[in-house]
Amino acid sequence: MMNQFIRLKAFFFFAAILLLCVSAYAKEDIKRERPGKLFSPSKIPLLEDPGRDTWQKPAEILNALEIGKGQTIADIGAASGYLTVKLSEGAGETGIIYAVDIQPEMLNYIRTRLDDKGLKNVIPVLSTMDDPKLPPGSLDIAILLSTYHEISQPVDFVRKLKQALKPHGKLAILEFSDESPIGPPLKFRLPEDVVINELLQAGFALSQRHTFLLPYQYFLVFTPSH
Ligand SMILES: C[S@@+](CC[C@H](N)C(=O)[O-])C[C@H]1O[C@@H](n2cnc3c(N)ncnc32)[C@H](O)[C@@H]1O
Repeated sequence: MMNQFIRLKAFFFFAAILLLCVSAYAKEDIKRERPGKLFSPSKIPLLEDPGRDTWQKPAEILNALEIGKGQTIADIGAASGYLTVKLSEGAGETGIIYAVDIQPEMLNYIRTRLDDKGLKNVIPVLSTMDDPKLPPGSLDIAILLSTYHEISQPVDFVRKLKQALKPHGKLAILEFSDESPIGPPLKFRLPEDVVINELLQAGFALSQRHTFLLPYQYFLVFTPSH
């Protein structure tokens, strides 16, 4: 009986090791493509899915970033404004939210939404692929939610974004993990360590890593290092 138990334990141990090796090998094998395809405005309903809050957990994101009244925040790659609206409520009437996107259709959608909701603290910004077009030294926080993988020259882009941050400003990057059952095609996802290395190159330091907050995305927070 005891022998059988030991054999069973050994079997599960080796099976677990095998599984780890196979999944590590499979990751190595993913052919990455950068930049990812621009998210089409025709897919806005996906971003506005009523079930999104359950896994996106916007309240927890705002809480983790200590979003507060009167802050100036940029939602980079704002798209439909899903997060913009939540940031607008969090920063209140005395705050400013820049809703930044390079696709005019996205900004039109946001403008309609702002009018419908009567939100006065959001400024839509039509930016370009390599320049967020934000005022220097203005931001307490910049957030790139599922946007970083679409940027063609990310290191140059975040260097420019750094100029728009206040000296103690934060830059948050959230991206779908390889393990997530939803999100962009695997080839367009970015391993966390790639993002961290690029941000280090651009003169940022990693200040927080919210590992267990969100089920499908990693959540990194950086501050300017020099
Ligand atoms: C997948 S959508 C994410 C939308 C939104 N953050 C959300 O989670 O609901 C990515 C958005 O980033 C925008 N984008 C891509 N590159 C950008 C850049 N360099 N600057 C600003 N926006 C960009 C795209 O136009 C698209 O609307």
